[in-house]
Formats: sequence, C-alpha cells, structure tokens
Amino acid sequence: GASAKTFEWRSNVLNRLQSKYGSLYRQDNVILSGTHTHSGPGGYFQYTVFVIASEGFSNRTFEYMVTGIVKSIEMAHKNMKPGKIFINKGNVEGVQINRSPSSYLWNPPSERARYSSNTDKEMIILKMVDLNGVDLGLISWFAIHPVSMNNTNHLVNSDNMGYASYLFEQEKNKGYLPGQGPYVAAFASSNLGDVSPNILGPHCVNTGDSCDNANSSCPIGGSSMCIAMGPGHDMFNSTQIIGGIIYQRAKELYASASQELTGPLAAAHQWVNMSNVTVWLNSTHTAQTCKPALGYSFAAGTIDGFGSLNFTQGTTVGDPFWDTLRDQLLGKPSEEIKRCHKPKPILLHTGELTKPHPWHPDIVDVQMITVGSLAIIAIPGEFTTMSGRRLREAVQAEFATYGMQNMTAVISGLCNVYTHYITTFEEYQAQRYEAASTIYGPHTLSAYIQLFRALAKAIATDTVANLSRGPEPPYFKQLIASLIPNIVDRAPLGRNFGDVLQPAKPAYRVGEVAEVIFVGANPKNSAENQTHQTFLTVEKYEATSATWRIVHNDASWETRFYWHKGLLGHSNATIQWHIPGTAQPGIYRMRYFGHHRKQDFLKPAVILPFESTSSAFEVVTS
Ligand SMILES: *[C@@H]1O[C@H](CO)[C@@H](O)[C@H](O)[C@H]1NC(C)=O
Ligand SMILES: *[C@@H]1O[C@H](CO)[C@@H](O)[C@H](O)[C@H]1NC(C)=O
Ligand SMILES: *[C@@H]1O[C@H](CO)[C@@H](O)[C@H](O)[C@H]1NC(C)=O
Ligand SMILES: *[C@@H]1O[C@H](CO)[C@@H](O)[C@H](O)[C@H]1NC(C)=O
Ligand SMILES: *[C@@H]1O[C@H](CO)[C@@H](O)[C@H](O)[C@H]1NC(C)=O
Ligand SMILES: *[C@@H]1O[C@H](CO)[C@@H](O)[C@H](O)[C@H]1NC(C)=O
Ligand SMILES: *[C@@H]1O[C@H](CO)[C@@H](O)[C@H](O)[C@H]1NC(C)=O
Ligand SMILES: *[C@@H]1O[C@H](CO)[C@@H](O)[C@H](O)[C@H]1NC(C)=O
Ligand SMILES: *[C@@H]1O[C@H](CO)[C@@H](O)[C@H](O)[C@H]1NC(C)=O
Ligand SMILES: *[C@@H]1O[C@H](CO)[C@@H](O)[C@H](O)[C@H]1NC(C)=O
Ligand SMILES: *[C@@H]1O[C@H](CO)[C@@H](O)[C@H](O)[C@H]1NC(C)=O
Repeated sequence: GASAKTFEWRSNVLNRLQSKYGSLYRQDNVILSGTHTHSGPGGYFQYTVFVIASEGFSNRTFEYMVTGIVKSIEMAHKNMKPGKIFINKGNVEGVQINRSPSSYLWNPPSERARYSSNTDKEMIILKMVDLNGVDLGLISWFAIHPVSMNNTNHLVNSDNMGYASYLFEQEKNKGYLPGQGPYVAAFASSNLGDVSPNILGPHCVNTGDSCDNANSSCPIGGSSMCIAMGPGHDMFNSTQIIGGIIYQRAKELYASASQELTGPLAAAHQWVNMSNVTVWLNSTHTAQTCKPALGYSFAAGTIDGFGSLNFTQGTTVGDPFWDTLRDQLLGKPSEEIKRCHKPKPILLHTGELTKPHPWHPDIVDVQMITVGSLAIIAIPGEFTTMSGRRLREAVQAEFATYGMQNMTAVISGLCNVYTHYITTFEEYQAQRYEAASTIYGPHTLSAYIQLFRALAKAIATDTVANLSRGPEPPYFKQLIASLIPNIVDRAPLGRNFGDVLQPAKPAYRVGEVAEVIFVGANPKNSAENQTHQTFLTVEKYEATSATWRIVHNDASWETRFYWHKGLLGHSNATIQWHIPGTAQPGIYRMRYFGHHRKQDFLKPAVILPFESTSSAFEVVTS
C-alpha cells in the first residue's frame, strides 16, 4: 500500500481518512474533483511535466492542499444528518463558445445533427435539504472553462465557477464571511475541454480581425495575436458577468427542484494502465491506446491563453528545429510511439521519459458513483463536448441493457489524477490544442467508453466486488525540490514588517478603491502556519459597541492582495478594497496579516507572524 510519506495527494487524503474513520471513506467511494482554476497555487502534482511547470515540487502547497481536503471532509462528516436530495436540469444560455469549432466539425454530420449547439448547455443540480426542509447544500455540474481571468492574472482566484459558488454561498450564509458559513455550494466541472467563457470570440488584438480559423492564427503576428475575450470590459468584469449568469441559473433550478432522487448508492473504482488498453472497434478489429505524448499544438496554447514559443494550432507535421532540439535534450521518440499517435506530430514523448520520474501518468483512476438514478462519471481529465456526449450516452445505454432504463449520467471533470484532454477520434485528426493534448492517442475516448461501460455493468449487475483493482500507481518519495529558494524576508532599514508605506486617504466614496501599501513578507510563509486565516481584513467601526467588525476577508470579491517582490528579500504588500455600492457609510480600517522568515546566524530559520492596521478612513455614499 501507499505510505503516508509519498507525494500523491489522493492516496495521502485516503490514508488520513482511513486512520480516522477506518473503512468508511475508501478508494471506491471518495472522488476528488477539481472545480478547476488557472489561478491557484501549483507544485503539488508529482509527474515531471507538472513539476517542471511549477519550478519544482512544493511540499508546502502539497501539505496545505491535502490538509485542507481532509479538513473539509471531516467537517462534512461531523455535520452529516439525514436529508433529501432533489435533482433538476436546465440550460444556461449566453456564457459559452466552442474554442475549437473547426475540430467539432470533423465529427460525423449525422451525429452533429442530433444537437443544436457545439457546446453542452445543460446544468445539472442536486439540492440537499434536511428532513425539515432546511437548506444544506448544492452540487451543480456545468461545462465551462474557468478562464474568464486570463493568464496575466497573478491573484489566487477561483474564476467564474468559483464566483458563482461565492455568490450562492454568500446568499445562503447571510452574515458570514466567505468560506465560513454552514451552507456549501459546489460548482463542479464537466465536459469543458473545448468550451471557452470568452464569448466575444477570437480576434487579432493587433488588427481587430476575427481569427476564428482552423489554426487560430492572425495574418500579422501568428497565434500570439489571436485572443478571445469578453463579455466584460476587463477580466474581473467578465468573471463577474459569466459567474453571475451561472449563479442565477443555478438559483432558479434550485428553487424549482422537485424531483426527489431516491434509491441505492453504489461505487466502483479501478486503476487502469492507459498506456496500453486494447479497444474493441467492432467485433473483429481492435486498436491500442499509446504511451503518453504531447503534440506540437499543445505548445500553441489556445485562444484563452497562447503558448510562449509561437507554435500554431492544427499542426500535423513536426518542425526539424524543434525535433532536433528535443532529440538532443531528451532523446528520440521511438518509432512505435510515433506510429501510435499519428497524425499527431510528437513534441514531447513524455511516456518514454522517466527521469528523474515518469513525466506523465500511465496509471489512472476510472471511477463511478451512482445515487439512485444519477450516475456520476469521474473523469481524470478534460473531455470535449462531443466526447462527453458519447460517454454519457454509452453509460446510459449500458445501464439500460441491465434494466436500469432511466439513468442520468453526468460527467464530473478533472477527477483524482490529471491527464490533460480527451477528444473524439475525429477531432483528434485536426490536431488542435485539445487533440495534441490527448496524451494516450487517437483511441483514448474509445478506451474510456469501454472502461466506464464495464463500471456501469458492474454496478447494474451488482458485481462491483468482482472488478479487478488494476495496477497500483507508482509512488515517488523524492521529487525535484522547488527551484524557488526560501529566502529570509527583510524590512527596509529602520522599518518593521507591516509598517505602512502608503497610508489610506482620509475618505473615499463608494465605487472608489481604498489602497494601503505595507512593508511585506513572502505570503508563502503563511502557508506553513495552519492557523493562518486571511491575509487581510476590512473592518467597520461600530460606535454603539465601540468595536471593529470584520466585513471582508481575502476571499471577498471586493478585496485584492498584491505582493510585490523586490531585491534581497524586500517586498511590499498592497491591499485594496474596491468599495461596493452596497457599502454602509462609516469609519473603516484595513489590516494585514503576514509571516516573515527569519534566520539568525547558525540557527535554523523560523517563521514569525506579524500584523498591522491602517489608519481609519471614512466611506461616504456620494
Ligand atoms: C512536508 O511538510 C510536512 C508538514 O509541514 C512536514 O512534516 C514534512 O517533513 C515535509 N516533508 C519534506 C520532505 O520536506
Ligand atoms: C492556417 O490555416 C490555413 C488554412 O486553413 C493555411 O492556409 C495557413 O497556412 C495556416 N497558417 C499557419 C500559420 O499554419
Ligand atoms: C509567429 O509566427 C507568425 C507566423 O505564424 C509570424 O507572423 C510571427 O512574426 C511570429 N512571431 C514571432 C514573435 O516570432
Ligand atoms: C487580460 O485581460 C486584461 C483586462 O483585464 C487585458 O488588458 C489583457 O490584454 C488581457 N490579456 C490577455 C493575454 O488576454
Ligand atoms: C461590468 O462593467 C459594466 C461597465 O462598467 C458595469 O455596468 C456592470 O455592472 C459590470 N458587471 C458586473 C457583473 O459587475
Ligand atoms: C503501463 O503499460 C506500459 C505498456 O504496456 C508499460 O510499459 C508500463 O510499464 C506500464 N506502467 C506501469 C506503471 O506499470
Ligand atoms: C500492449 O498490449 C497488447 C495486448 O494486450 C500486447 O500484445 C502488447 O505487447 C502490449 N504492449 C506493450 C508495449 O506492453
Ligand atoms: C471493423 O472496423 C475496421 C476498422 O475500422 C473496419 O475496417 C471493418 O470494416 C469493421 N468491420 C465491421 C464488420 O464493421
Ligand atoms: C423513465 O422516466 C419516464 C419519464 O420520467 C417515465 O415516464 C418512465 O416510467 C420511466 N421508466 C422507468 C422504467 O422507470
Ligand atoms: C463474482 O465473484 C463471486 C465470488 O467470488 C462469484 O461467485 C461470482 O460468480 C462472480 N460473478 C461474476 C459475474 O463473475
Ligand atoms: C515598496 O514601496 C515603496 C514605497 O512606495 C517603493 O519605494 C518601493 O519601490 C516598493 N517596492 C516594491 C518591491 O514594490
């Protein structure tokens, strides 16, 4: 079994749950599903491609993630009570575009004719109440990329789906700060592989022309000029608009949910070596999946965020310069892997790269949980729209074969382990970003369909116990250490951490931004302190009790915490409060909570807390 000292987040979560609850929470009945954001801390995923991308593995982030997940499950366990679940479905309009529409067109016309859109608009929600009808929580699934915040953003941010969740929880948890009330609203991901929220579509930022073409390329400047934005005037506004619409629709579906979900619970899990699954194409022919590899168009990025090396999407032939550079640095890909991935030109043959650790996973989790007539399909990656439709349909048909006629199947994306994208076989031929990132080759989707049908059959025929566990993933103990050193924080001469460098103004109007700059310290220090709650508060003076009441923390949409790194351990922390129209007039202040790293000669480094308070300022309504 996995030792608690290995750096694999799911097994660490499961081990910690096991030591507390025995066999209650297990491999088969716990799914870890990312709501997905591009604006979070990195460095916790053990395969080399991701470790390189995050400039080394961060034990700090890893511990914080695992501890946080376990804590949330413990809280849910403690608050568990009998209740009812209601299911509802409905379309969400005006928040998505397909970001690879030309790939979608490669799917057979007869198949496309069955759908009115090249994205899935349906949201599924589960409303949970106790036996007295008191609200407990919501889980919803919807297919959209959380990239309303673009890749210039450096704030930790949960993007459009996180904003929907924030609005829902704020409404249900009146009087609580974000993240602290009892009600939980989860906005989970689905088959979002080719779905962008940047609904004004791709345009050349230099000329304004549309670049909605097969290679997302501009006449002048190529793919780095082709960017999709909107619908807002900046990324914050877009996040609020898209997240707001998703929230509104979830709220309507929640209010009108009346179909109770009843019936037994079942769960099935398997580990599968995706590098070599035999896929039955029909009764006479088979095909194989491949060892992982990324194609050229992976490096191109997408209209939601281009790559830095000026690659172009839709590339089906390699380039001698890059091929030679790769061969020199990493060795040549085998003929076998090249053949297997065709027509993908391989940029990185990750499945053949094992130093210092495998670059990509071979062993992945396939998992399904059913709650009465709902089947939750846990996908270890990002399915495109049509991939999701095919899988859902196949799973539903499999259940029907065994007498379960009315199953609703939902794709729960980005679960357990990350394996990039999964396109249909036809979309794969076009080799845009999603196809180049389909790492197990052209038959990846067919393999998953086969595997998930087997899970559905096992659940439907009550033979889950007969499923093989599959090969256990490898566990690595030594990973590339973080290349970002821990350095001692320093305050300018004669100053202390938290000293105010730029004070608040005496007064602000609503709609303005209150800003204070403090002598800062690296915020990552605070992640080593498990009691750290927030980097900032906005507090209002209550004259009647002569106390300061916290009105916002760092999870509030109205606040921003920027950290500016200087030389030799010097840094500034800027705290902003974007004063909303709903703010009460009165006297306010802002506080900063940090930790600095200190090291005295010949002694081990220590992390020390500090806090600081701005001067009081007035907010007036007009
Ligand atoms: C990782 O972090 C945990 C918790 O802070 C600590 O106990 C452990 O020693 C760290 N492991 C390594 C290898 O640094
Ligand atoms: C983009 O595709 C068009 C055809 O659709 C082709 O003519 C053009 O050369 C391609 N551009 C690049 C940079 O690959
Ligand atoms: C990127 O490639 C395009 C052609 O696809 C070219 O027009 C452009 O100048 C290149 N940009 C850079 C920075 O090399
Ligand atoms: C990101 O959004 C900001 C507006 O918030 C905009 O100025 C910038 O050009 C965008 N950048 C990219 C690469 O999309
Ligand atoms: C987006 O910005 C516009 C223009 O400033 C504003 O009218 C609108 O209220 C903003 N939308 C949201 C959801 O904040
Ligand atoms: C997965 O299968 C491939 C091909 O059969 C094999 O080379 C590889 O060692 C397997 N991976 C693991 C982790 O067992
Ligand atoms: C992949 O599996 C097939 C059939 O199961 C087997 O014949 C083949 O040797 C395997 N390939 C590798 C590289 O393990
Ligand atoms: C089975 O699939 C193969 C490969 O796609 C195809 O050549 C063959 O005609 C198919 N056979 C039948 C009976 O459909
Ligand atoms: C399936 O659902 C439909 C509509 O909700 C219902 O009329 C039908 O009786 C159900 N069939 C079974 C076998 O439960
Ligand atoms: C499942 O396993 C049980 C016990 O080992 C065995 O009796 C039964 O025949 C198996 N069922 C199937 C469908 O393989
Ligand atoms: C910190 O703020 C001071 C005063 O505003 C400024 O002089 C200095 O350049 C800032 N340093 C950084 C790293 O932003």
